[in-house]
Amino acid sequence: MVAETRLGPDDFIVPLFVVEGSQVKEEIASMPGYYRISLDFLKAEVKELWSMGLKSVLIFVKCKDELKDNRGTEAINRDGLMQRAIREVKNACPDMVVMSDVALDPYSSFGHDGIVKDNQILNDPTVDVLAAMSVSHAEAGVDFVAPSDMMDGRVRVIRRTLEENNLSDVGIMSYSAKYASCFYGPFREALDSAPGFGDKKTYQMDFSNRLEAIKETLMDIEEGADIVMVKPALSYLDIIREVKNAVQVPVSAYNISGEYAMIKAAAKMGWLDEDKAIIETLTSIKRAGADLIATYFAKDAVRLIGQ
Ligand code: PBG
Repeated sequence: MVAETRLGPDDFIVPLFVVEGSQVKEEIASMPGYYRISLDFLKAEVKELWSMGLKSVLIFVKCKDELKDNRGTEAINRDGLMQRAIREVKNACPDMVVMSDVALDPYSSFGHDGIVKDNQILNDPTVDVLAAMSVSHAEAGVDFVAPSDMMDGRVRVIRRTLEENNLSDVGIMSYSAKYASCFYGPFREALDSAPGFGDKKTYQMDFSNRLEAIKETLMDIEEGADIVMVKPALSYLDIIREVKNAVQVPVSAYNISGEYAMIKAAAKMGWLDEDKAIIETLTSIKRAGADLIATYFAKDAVRLIGQ
């Protein structure tokens, strides 16, 4: 009766990892219980999610090695895996809110979120590709593009390019305060997208910074972001609260792969009660101020809340 924070299915965004092939359902080694699935399984998966009350998915794709290059060619292929996955989800479940990851790392021969030259990331040429990529996702039927790359100025260019292509209904969920974090490790295994050289500290944020998160978030809103995101979630609950207090748009938080893996590993060892850890974790992220939570625990949470 006195609980200030309650979890419900509409708090969650479900990340989905899609691969080529048919009848593929591969468990991700560092994310036990989470899978890469092929397009044919995607249909059944989203129908199941919808039946559980989960109304939003965030799609990532694992690009074949031979299609990777330094220009994001496959990222803007109108018949690429992401574009087909978007169409598949919309066909299977037209009311599902479909969000797509926009960044070059799964398509990059260097494993970086941007185009690389002389070991440097080229901000502005990357932004142009991200905008073209957003248009191709929008044409495939996506509801929100979710730029996770942290290039400067990309929200403005994506917004403008969508408008110019008469795709003004498509929203932008911007990863606004995305920190350079060691907790992305399992995700990079899932998509085989670890950086081939260096790290992502020249575009993702320094985890010792707080004010910069507010600055980055306000800039994204000014550029046209409809939803902003803090990522990761658990080591950044203070940032989620500050962002929530500073903005008037919905705030999302990403309960990322390493946060999932830690609970799974401890539970496997018998050191934590997995179900309790899931609910306590997700409640803390919502209590911190997240209106939406992207989490690999979405189905578990719905099952647990229902009990
Ligand atoms: C990359 C991207 C990453 C995640 C989402 N988009 C990893 C990275 O920046 O290296 C991480 C998600 C997770 O760890 O669950 N554009």
